[in-house]
Amino acid sequence: MTLIDQATQLRTLAMQRPRASVIAVTSGKGGVGKSNIAVNLAIQFAAVGKDVVLLDADLGLANADVLCNIDLPYNLSHVIARKKELRDVMVKAPGGFRLIGGASGLARMADLSDFDRQRLVDSLAEVEYQTDVILIDTGAGISPNVLSFTRAADHVLVVTTPEPTAITDAYAVVKVVSRDGADRRISLLVNQTRSVGEARVVYERIAKVARQFLGISVFDAGFVMSDEAVCAAVRRRSPFVMASPRCAASLAIAQLAVRLQDGVAVNLDSGGFFHRISRWLGR
Ligand SMILES: Nc1ncnc2c1ncn2[C@@H]1O[C@H](COP(=O)(O)OP(=O)(O)O)[C@@H](O)[C@H]1O
Ligand SMILES: [Mg+2]
Repeated sequence: MTLIDQATQLRTLAMQRPRASVIAVTSGKGGVGKSNIAVNLAIQFAAVGKDVVLLDADLGLANADVLCNIDLPYNLSHVIARKKELRDVMVKAPGGFRLIGGASGLARMADLSDFDRQRLVDSLAEVEYQTDVILIDTGAGISPNVLSFTRAADHVLVVTTPEPTAITDAYAVVKVVSRDGADRRISLLVNQTRSVGEARVVYERIAKVARQFLGISVFDAGFVMSDEAVCAAVRRRSPFVMASPRCAASLAIAQLAVRLQDGVAVNLDSGGFFHRISRWLGR
């Protein structure tokens, strides 16, 4: 399909349905809970009637399929290798969302060329008029693999824990993302907190420094308590909002979905595939 054909097709689709809100779930430090947040948030959005696609873009360390206990015949590595289209690797996941599995175990993922990386991001255009929400589990850090996905998002949800190292790394992500294009919302979620007060202190610290030194507002996405039910659910390979719908973490995910929904209103005129292309070209 030529770029012009694709433009015509996307315009037709856009007249039928608004484009999806794209939310990237990211972090500075690894192991803070991104994948658990992304998977359970996808289920929560699906539970309130949203059509949701979760893209496991943690290139190299993908595990959303493990958290959902599904075997994927194909994943992003097949898309990268041009053996499959994105729509061919999408599977129905527990809770009713659709999962695009990551390319776990792919050697030399860091060597993905700029061209292939961008092709992957642009292939999202295919799904963005066929769903309400696209969640992207980006992986940790500020590598080009992560930034090409945060760049494609309307909303970047930075996850941290109250650990000093995680906080420092979360601030580094906020800094890099805020300087990598101006028009997307950045919010902070404090995961694995022991108290509301602790989460508040972490949020205030990052928001204050971002205001002072970066001149930006970091929105408050709230917190998720440290909850034994999360670890138990991971061991059982069942997302915690399904395994323990009334645990503290599940209630926090429901609140997070409401906060995000209020914060991800999409401006159709400025969004979408062509916007991403121009972001890319304008770098
Ligand atoms: N709210 C929480 N309460 C307790 N443990 C958690 C919580 N969130 C995450 N964890 C623990 O952290 C581990 C890593 O989470 P994961 O979502 O895989 O992180 P990431 O995707 O950021 O690497 C989980 O396996 C779980 O044991
Ligand atoms: Mg992960």
